[in-house]
Amino acid sequence: MTYKKANILIVDDDFDMLELLQRQLHDQNFHAYKASNVLEAINILKYSRIDLLITDLQMPQVDGIALIKYVSDHYPKLPTLVITGFPSIDGALEAMKSGAVDYLIKPFTKEELKNAVAKALPQKLQETTRDSLANNSISYAGIIGNSEPMQKLIDLIERVKDNKATVLIQGESGTGKELIARAIHYKGRFAAQAFIAVNCGGIPEDLLEAELFGYTKGSFTGASENRQGFFQAADKGTIFLDEIGNAPMKVQTRLLRVLQEKEVQRIGEQNASKIDIRIIAATNSDLYKMVKIGKFREDLYYRLNVVNISTPPLRSHKGDIVYLANNFLRKYGSEYGKQATLSDKALELLQNYDWPGNVRELENIIQRTLILSDDEITSEQLPEHFKYHISSNDTTFKSLAEVEKEYILRVLAYTDQNKTQAAEILNIDRKTLRNKLK
Ligand SMILES: Nc1ncnc2c1ncn2[C@@H]1O[C@H](COP(=O)(O)OP(=O)(O)OP(=O)(O)O)[C@@H](O)[C@H]1O
Ligand SMILES: [Mg+2]
Repeated sequence: MTYKKANILIVDDDFDMLELLQRQLHDQNFHAYKASNVLEAINILKYSRIDLLITDLQMPQVDGIALIKYVSDHYPKLPTLVITGFPSIDGALEAMKSGAVDYLIKPFTKEELKNAVAKALPQKLQETTRDSLANNSISYAGIIGNSEPMQKLIDLIERVKDNKATVLIQGESGTGKELIARAIHYKGRFAAQAFIAVNCGGIPEDLLEAELFGYTKGSFTGASENRQGFFQAADKGTIFLDEIGNAPMKVQTRLLRVLQEKEVQRIGEQNASKIDIRIIAATNSDLYKMVKIGKFREDLYYRLNVVNISTPPLRSHKGDIVYLANNFLRKYGSEYGKQATLSDKALELLQNYDWPGNVRELENIIQRTLILSDDEITSEQLPEHFKYHISSNDTTFKSLAEVEKEYILRVLAYTDQNKTQAAEILNIDRKTLRNKLK
């Protein structure tokens, strides 16, 4: 596959971080330039063709925000991605306002880096990969699936994408909830507005409240200035509240207010301000059950559940496995410079498996296996558990006692009914064997 290698400039005063980022970007087939401070970065920008800037925010002397402002003045077309530690997540917001397209919170995984880079890179650098994808499979904003449940799901996205009805996406882990939330936003009429994703499970309660709703100076210890929250920052666009089931009660109460009154109130503020936002929430826990046991507000549940999208587990649309697998083969193939196919037997094993981790698990398996394979992925290269897997179609199960009995009889047959030998093989003493035979 011929495909122009993008040049990415990374700026961080932490050398280990620079090294790590460079290695990960190389693995993803990008060319990475490194700068350990803003002045160095500006120099590189002057003399090289850079396609994407990734910068840390806190750096001694000149900080990342200044660099972002410089870039938006001098290189308005250059997308910028910000990396930041937890305490400065509000800095990330400021960065977004100054022109950054997205931010990553440290520590982030390889996968998160990769997704953020893919989203931030100019489309033309990605065209080759997208074209090759369109030829061979059925994709809607990156969602692959030709089966009935997936087509229904895409219909539903089509229906909701242009209005601001609140959407609740429920489904098992790895079924594409976040992918769907992004599709709703980016396919819809408000795509040019902000899309902000917040993981309600990953942030300590007080911080989550502050980040979501904003606060005024002095409203709590450490609130040294007025701050906008994610809600205000995503106004007119979409806020994606991931893992909503983990939102603490305090946050649930404030959220209810946003949904009922269409207004947000910053912490410490008397007046609320109107807000025009689409809320998409997602969870992999049974929210209704949580309502029943008092862990989730019932009124909030009904407010969120205006449009309900449930993502089907992969085992319920196995027909899509072949499309998904081929898509991931192409995706990682172009990344590793390989063009591999699946052998029939390997595909059969993938189709017989039940995929408790759903599409994410399939993606991981393909990626890992591809690294170790040549031009064909064979069944032997798949992880062990595929070979001994029991499909959900085998629903006749035996009790342990029955299995034990059959096994003992098999060993006895093998030893020509020699109990001493059989006991040895089974690693039990003769007396135990005799008792079991009774
Ligand atoms: N239908 C699909 N087509 C293509 N890729 C998919 C599909 N569904 C999921 N994926 C991919 O699988 C991975 C997991 O998807 P995503 O993060 O959206 O799942 P999730 O439901 O949010 O999972 P979790 O509950 O664990 O957060 C992503 O890399 C995503 O791109
Ligand atoms: Mg998710």
